[in-house]
Amino acid sequence: MGKTRKIVLVLFCFILISSSFPPGQGLLAQEVRLDVPFVPTPYEVIEDMLRFAELKKGDILYDLGCGDGRIVIEAARRAGIRAVGIDIDPERIRESRENARIAGVENLVEFRRANIFEADFSDATVVTMYLLPDVNIRLRPTILSLKPGTRIISHQFDMDEWQADRMTYVPIDLYVHTVFLWIVPANISGTWDWSLNLNQKKTDCRLEVNQAYQYFSGKLYLGEQVLHIPETKVVGPNVEFSVILPGTADTELIFSGQAEGDQLNGTATLVQGKKNARQTWKATRRPGTATSIER
Ligand SMILES: C[S@@+](CC[C@H](N)C(=O)[O-])C[C@H]1O[C@@H](n2cnc3c(N)ncnc32)[C@H](O)[C@@H]1O
Repeated sequence: MGKTRKIVLVLFCFILISSSFPPGQGLLAQEVRLDVPFVPTPYEVIEDMLRFAELKKGDILYDLGCGDGRIVIEAARRAGIRAVGIDIDPERIRESRENARIAGVENLVEFRRANIFEADFSDATVVTMYLLPDVNIRLRPTILSLKPGTRIISHQFDMDEWQADRMTYVPIDLYVHTVFLWIVPANISGTWDWSLNLNQKKTDCRLEVNQAYQYFSGKLYLGEQVLHIPETKVVGPNVEFSVILPGTADTELIFSGQAEGDQLNGTATLVQGKKNARQTWKATRRPGTATSIER
C-alpha cells in the first residue's frame, strides 16, 4: 500500500472512531452503528466513476452506503436510469430524498434505509461504493454472485486479490483519488463436455477449467489429445480461448461464447490461412464440478 493511501486510511479510520454517534438526533440515531463514516465523494471523482459505469438504458445502479445520495442522483440525472441508494443512517436517507427532490429525479431514484450486508441488490447492473478495504472484502462474495457483466466501481479502495479490470487516478488539490472498475465474471470453473466435427469426424471434447476471479486456465481434451489453455480472462459472461490443432502448424481452433449457468453457447471456428469454418459450440458443465472462484 502506498504512503498516501496509508495516510488516507488512517484518517478515514480516525473519523470512523471519532464518529461513533454522529448521525441525526435523538435515541434512534445514536443506535446507528456505521461500518464506514460519511465522507462524500467529490463530483470530479463521480465524473470518472460514471464514465467507467458506461450507463445505458435499462441499467439499475446501486450505491452501497449512499451518503447524501449524490452518486445515485447524478446517475439518474445524466442517464435517466433507475438508481437506488442504500444507507444505514436515517439522517442520510432523509438528506438523499430531499436532494433528489431538489434535483427533480424523485421518479427515478429510491433510497432505502438498510444495512448493506443484509440488503438485496441482486438486480443491480452497476454497483458503486466508497467504503473501506475490509468492508469491500466482506461484500466480495455477494458482489461475485451478482449477474455476470455487472460493473462494480469503487472510489479509493480495492478488493485485495480480486484485481481491478480498470483503474484511474483523479488528482484534486494535494490528494490523488483512485477509481477502480471490476466486471463480475461468470464462474466457468469445472469440467465441460461437448462434441465437434473435426476432419469430418465427430470428436468428443472436454475442458477442465481452473478459475480465480476473472482469470482461468485449463486443459482441453480433443479426442485423445490434451492441450493446455494458458491464462485467459472471462469478461462478464463472455468466454474466448483458442488452440493450435495438433498435427498442424497453423490451424487455429477458436472458441467464443457466453456462459449461462451450466451452459456455454457460441461458435467454434477453424481458421487456416484465409479459410474459416464455423460450427456451433454448445458445452454443458458436469454437475458438481464448479468451485468457488474466490481465493
Ligand atoms: C464514505 S460514505 C460514502 C457516501 C457516498 N456513497 C459517496 O460516495 O458520496 C459511506 C456511507 O456508508 C454508510 N454506511 C456505513 N455503514 C453502513 C452499513 N453497514 N450499511 C449501509 N450504509 C452504511 C454511511 O452512513 C455513509 O453514508
